[in-house]
Amino acid sequence: MNSIGTINPASASTTTEAGHVPTPVEADAIICREVDLLTRENHQIWNSPDHDRSQYVHSFFQYPAMMVPIVQKRIIEIIVNAKGDVTNMLDSFMGSGTSLVAGMEMGLNCYGQDINPLAVLVSKTRTGPFYFGAIEERRHALFSHIEQDNDETIEANFKGLYKWFTPAVVAELSKIVRAIKAESNQTIRRFYWVILAETIRLTSNDRTSTFKLHARPLTEIATRIVSPIDVFKKHFANSLEDLREHALQLQNADRLLKGAYIGKINLNLLSSKEQIVTTNDQEGFFDLHVTSPPYGDNKTTVTYGQFSYLPLQWIDLQDIDERANKTFLATTSQIDSFGLGGIIRQFTIDELQVLFDASPRLEVIYHRIHAIDPKRARKVAAFFYDIYQTIQNIHRAMKVNGYQVWTVGNRTVAGVNIPNNVIMTDFILSQGAILIKTINREILNRRMARRNSQAALMTFEDILIFRKIG
Ligand SMILES: C[S@@+](CC[C@H](N)C(=O)[O-])C[C@H]1O[C@@H](n2cnc3c(N)ncnc32)[C@H](O)[C@@H]1O
Repeated sequence: MNSIGTINPASASTTTEAGHVPTPVEADAIICREVDLLTRENHQIWNSPDHDRSQYVHSFFQYPAMMVPIVQKRIIEIIVNAKGDVTNMLDSFMGSGTSLVAGMEMGLNCYGQDINPLAVLVSKTRTGPFYFGAIEERRHALFSHIEQDNDETIEANFKGLYKWFTPAVVAELSKIVRAIKAESNQTIRRFYWVILAETIRLTSNDRTSTFKLHARPLTEIATRIVSPIDVFKKHFANSLEDLREHALQLQNADRLLKGAYIGKINLNLLSSKEQIVTTNDQEGFFDLHVTSPPYGDNKTTVTYGQFSYLPLQWIDLQDIDERANKTFLATTSQIDSFGLGGIIRQFTIDELQVLFDASPRLEVIYHRIHAIDPKRARKVAAFFYDIYQTIQNIHRAMKVNGYQVWTVGNRTVAGVNIPNNVIMTDFILSQGAILIKTINREILNRRMARRNSQAALMTFEDILIFRKIG
C-alpha cells in the first residue's frame, strides 16, 4: 500500500494467478478481504478525516454533499482489481462527478446522470478535455475583455434579480458573462462558467451558510463590498491550477491523449428514475455502479436545485446540455421538484404494497410516520416510490455479476428514524442482487460542530457493496 492508503494494482493482482479472471465468488472474497485489510491497518481509512479536498479538482466548485474522492477511488480500485474485467461505470446521481473522476483514473468508460444542470456542468468540466494550456494563453484576452467592456446591458433577466444581487454586482457579472460568451471554444467556456458559478455563490445576496436560498439582512447588503470581477480573477487562478494538477494526475496514469480522456465519457441531464443512458439502450451494460443518492426529497433534505438557481440564471444553459432550458428555472424549487420524491401525490394501496413487498421494514416505518403525520408519510412514500423505480432501472442496466456501491445515510422524519441503508438494501436485493460488504463511515460535520454538542457532530453513513446475480 502507498502512503495515501490506496492499493497498488500490482499487489492486488497477486491475489489471483496471472491471466486468471476470478469467478464472481472469488471476486467477492477478494473485495471483502481487501476492505478488511485496509480497515485493520487503519480504522479511520473510510472516514478520511485528513483527505485532500483539492484532489481531482474537488475544490473547484463547492457542490453540496460531495463525496470524498480518495474513498471512492479506493473502493473502485479494489473492485476493478478483484473483478478483472471491469470496463465501464455509472453514477446515476453524479452530483459534481466525484466518483466518475475516480473511475477515470482507473481508465473506465464513465457514464453519469443528474437532474441538476449545474451538477452536469461541473461534472463535464471535471471530466475534460483539459485545455489548460489554451486557457492560460487566453486568460489575458478574457480579462481584457472584461476590463474594457463599457456596455451597460444586463445579462440576466429574472424575477428577484435585484433581491439577490446589488446593481453594482449585476453590472460586473454582466461584463464577465459577455467576455465568456466571446470565447469560441465550448469546453473552455464551460470551465469559465464553473468559475462564474462559484463567483456568483460568493457575491450574491444569498447567505453561503445554507443550501436553501436565504437573503442576507438588508443592513448587511447595504454595507457589503464585493467585486465579482476580483473574485472571478482570484478563483480563476486557483481553478486553473486545480485543473492542471488533475490533468497531470490523469496524464501520469496514462489516461490522456492530447488533453482528452482516452476512455468514453457520457454525461446526461436526465432523471435516473426516467431512464439510464447506455450505448444503444443496451440492458446488462454496466460492470460497476458507484453512487451516493439523495437521502430524501431534495426540498426537505439538501436543496441542490435552490443552491444552483442563481448561478444558472447567468450561465448559457445550451453550453451545459441540449436538454437544459428555462423550465428548469421556472421557480427557485423547480429543479428540486424534478428530483426523487419531488412530486407528492396520493399513492394507491397497490402502489404502496409493491414497495412494502420489496421492503417490509419500510411498511413498519411508513405506518409509524403516518400515525404521527400523514402528510409527511406521503412525502416519504413519494421518495421511496421514486428510488424504487430508479433501482429497477439501474438493475436492468447492470451486467450480471456487476457490482454496485451505494453510499447511504439515514435521516429522521417526524421523530422517526428512516433507515435508508436498510430500505435501499431491501430494494436492491429484491431485484436480484446480493450484499457482499458493508463499510461504516463516521463523518465529522464541521459546520454543525461549531453549534452543537459532541453527540451531534457525527454523521454515519454506510457504503454498501452489492453484486447482481440475476
Ligand atoms: C448526494 S448528491 C451526489 C453527490 C456526488 N456523488 C458528489 O460527490 O458530488 C445527489 C445528487 O442526486 C441528484 N438527483 C436527485 N434526484 C435525481 C434523479 N431522479 N436522477 C438523477 N439525479 C438526481 C441531485 O441533483 C444531486 O446532485
